[in-house]
Amino acid sequence: MKKLWGGRFTKTAEEWVDEFGASIPFDQELVEEDIEGSIAHVTMLGKCGILPSEDAEKIRAGLLALLEKAKQGKLEFSVAYEDIHLNIEKTLIDEIGPVGGKLHTGRSRNDQVATDMHLYLRKRVHEIIELIRELQQVLVEKAEAHVETLIPGYTHLQRAQPVSFAHHLLAYFWMLERDRERFTESLKRINKSPLGAGALAGTTFPIDRQYTADLLGFDSIYENSIDAVSDRDFILEFLSNSSLLMMHLSRFCEELILWSSQEFQFIEIDDAFATGSSIMPQKKNPDMAELIRGKTGRVYGNLVGLLTVMKGTPLAYNKDMQEDKEGMFDTVKTVTGSLKIFAGMIATMGVRTEVMKKAVKQDFSNATELADYLAKKGVPFREAHEIVGKLVLTCIEKGIFLADLPLSEYKRASALFEEDIYEVLDPYTAVNRRNSAGGTGFAEVRKAIKKAKKTMNTP
Ligand code: ARG
Repeated sequence: MKKLWGGRFTKTAEEWVDEFGASIPFDQELVEEDIEGSIAHVTMLGKCGILPSEDAEKIRAGLLALLEKAKQGKLEFSVAYEDIHLNIEKTLIDEIGPVGGKLHTGRSRNDQVATDMHLYLRKRVHEIIELIRELQQVLVEKAEAHVETLIPGYTHLQRAQPVSFAHHLLAYFWMLERDRERFTESLKRINKSPLGAGALAGTTFPIDRQYTADLLGFDSIYENSIDAVSDRDFILEFLSNSSLLMMHLSRFCEELILWSSQEFQFIEIDDAFATGSSIMPQKKNPDMAELIRGKTGRVYGNLVGLLTVMKGTPLAYNKDMQEDKEGMFDTVKTVTGSLKIFAGMIATMGVRTEVMKKAVKQDFSNATELADYLAKKGVPFREAHEIVGKLVLTCIEKGIFLADLPLSEYKRASALFEEDIYEVLDPYTAVNRRNSAGGTGFAEVRKAIKKAKKTMNTP
């Protein structure tokens, strides 16, 4: 089939070669953005007198009709026309006649494809920001219900100090808040217009780049035409922000998986977000959490993939850059899907407060309290640490916990111990007293919830 660019060719490629080079199987996802960009472009060509206004009007009307069809999924594409840009141009010419061939005046597919992707990502990033907010909302609601629910806090996955379950949940709220900030800040760089950069050098036609940028709602235009068509840092930034977000979700998933195991039994994942086993009737698997953890790998892969594609390409456009799309589409789908599933999973999860409470009473995570107790009475902390360490050892030998040790034993270790240590050893007291800024004390957690709500209400 004759190509739209076939003038200097004497031979056409075979279909299997065309297939290898074509991006239409995946870049048809950009169909609406592509037509919107073309509408802005032709409107500008008419306004600047580059095309007679009746031609511009005809093309505009033809494009609007195509946009309607695209929205209804009624457009057909062919690998013979390589990509979304040429497919749309060909369809336009078929529909309105040779005047459609004037659309590409003063433009290149290089500025066109970059424009499409800026428009596409702008839309998706706004959606992702919204979904992060929804997940944060769910987290705050759960946190509010569990301010005084205690859970063992871990370091090295060893019991460390008890914390408020709300405090643990809110840790993820603030991670997500930074993720949201990063996506929001990236909009500044996404919302820039490459349109009018041409193939790489600009154009001899008296175009108005600011006008097309305004029509498309861009905040500014790329300053340099070579930069405009040859960088993909805005996509890389998106992939990098997505990787960080997925890393946060993945760590949370790992905890949900652990907590829902027989060994922990801290939470119960709702049936709607779990699956069974085809052989073991008793199984209830936290599949959704595992999948999100797994999908984090493909998002990292998309980031590293595109970084690698870009690292050796000379300025300006190179066909290598066609490889920027699938990873971007895949990441959008993965991130939006993961955020939606996650919000549902947290909103419906059951919290076994009694199991958690029992857990914090049956460990040595109150040992720091004792050391602090002595330190407050003037014992150098290092010495206090040693004394309490010995007491823990005594307990382990006897198979009991610190709260079970009689006062006489304590007195033997240090005369400074008094009856009030038993109060200090209570995990509830231990948590409630940690009211340093950002700590797990109930008063601090309540403050944090208020702050989190306020943060969500500010754009
Ligand atoms: N399909 C191409 C891409 O995705 C569009 C740009 C093609 N430009 C070119 N000069 N061949 O990158």
